[in-house]
Amino acid sequence: MRLASRMERLGTETAFEVLAKAKALEAQGRSIIHLEIGEPDFPTPEHIVEAGCQALRDGYTHYTPAPGIPELREAIAIDATKRRGVEFSPEDVVVTPGGKPVMFYALLALVDEGDEVIYPNPGFPIYESMIRFAGGKAVPIQMEEARDFSLDVEKLCDMIGPQTRMVVLNSPHNPTGGVLSRADLEAIAEAVQRQPETLVLADEIYSRMLYEGEHFSIASLPGMRERTIVLDGFSKIYAMTGWRLGYGLLPHELVAPVVRLLINSASCTAAATQMAGVAALTGSQAPSEAMVEEFRRRREVIIQGLNAIPKISAKTPHGAFYAFPNITETGMTSRQMADLLLNEADVAALSGTAFGVYGEGYIRLSYANSVEQIEEALDRIRRALAERQ
Ligand SMILES: Cc1ncc(COP(=O)(O)O)c(C=O)c1O
Repeated sequence: MRLASRMERLGTETAFEVLAKAKALEAQGRSIIHLEIGEPDFPTPEHIVEAGCQALRDGYTHYTPAPGIPELREAIAIDATKRRGVEFSPEDVVVTPGGKPVMFYALLALVDEGDEVIYPNPGFPIYESMIRFAGGKAVPIQMEEARDFSLDVEKLCDMIGPQTRMVVLNSPHNPTGGVLSRADLEAIAEAVQRQPETLVLADEIYSRMLYEGEHFSIASLPGMRERTIVLDGFSKIYAMTGWRLGYGLLPHELVAPVVRLLINSASCTAAATQMAGVAALTGSQAPSEAMVEEFRRRREVIIQGLNAIPKISAKTPHGAFYAFPNITETGMTSRQMADLLLNEADVAALSGTAFGVYGEGYIRLSYANSVEQIEEALDRIRRALAERQ
């Protein structure tokens, strides 16, 4: 079949491919430890599940307004205003099936053929894929281990020019757990505001999974609210990946175009899912807080364990739930290491290059798994590498 040429520009997310390979090995009777997946291993909190079920019984089984049910848009606006210290009105909230479509819609709405979009590399693979699909020129900025997985802000500011349509930021950052400081964000905001047509896509999906300090949003800086698309959602902090619920906090002028894209694609987000979202935001936050505390405990276990393995070194992530150890001293490429771990240690992990060229020399291990499983995985990795020496 002849596919449209634009499909050649569309990438993918390797996590799903590795999961499929791991499942195939499991079908052969192997016991794989899953550290490849970017989703909490906790169940969705009970009161949220109950609200979703109740909504179905109450007849939330039909289309909703495209940008979302008013009650949810309002709950999101209140939560976003409180957490970011800048005013968001319900009219500037667009609810989407997961956080991912916000990237898609923002890029499709704003990027013209040849426009430059700067994005973090290593970084969430969909940024590069979608920038290219939208016709933009994907310009990577390296997240550097030597800077504790932040970026060279001076370099980034020099890269921002009239050709730059958008700068994608992700803090806390997948796959490294790096966090951009307030000072860095202030410098970036200044460089962005020197260009009349440059916007920021701030992917803040891990903003409540932070182990030190408070989250700071670039949208809260003077002049940035109307230049920033904030992406956030329920997948990670409420363990709701399968419900598909996210949102964009948009510059006012971008709401109508994004809603039009939504009408042309998904129509709206599932009604009962949206009502579960209202319960998530207005109900007890204790389960989410407990989950983050558990991730903090696992972070210590995995980072200490990795650093105890010869030729592997791992920085302590400040947010999200990923370790991104440096494996260059083993002499293997990232891909070889990920393959070795899956085939010989029965540990599913992702090659750093799944997150872009600057991911070479690293692998990503998600610590969304129990301490027992993480300890067992560390043991298996240690043994597999020792055998190879
Ligand atoms: C950085 C980042 N942004 C966005 C998403 C998408 O989240 P969702 O599942 O809500 O679409 C993910 C999911 O892994 C992510 O890691």
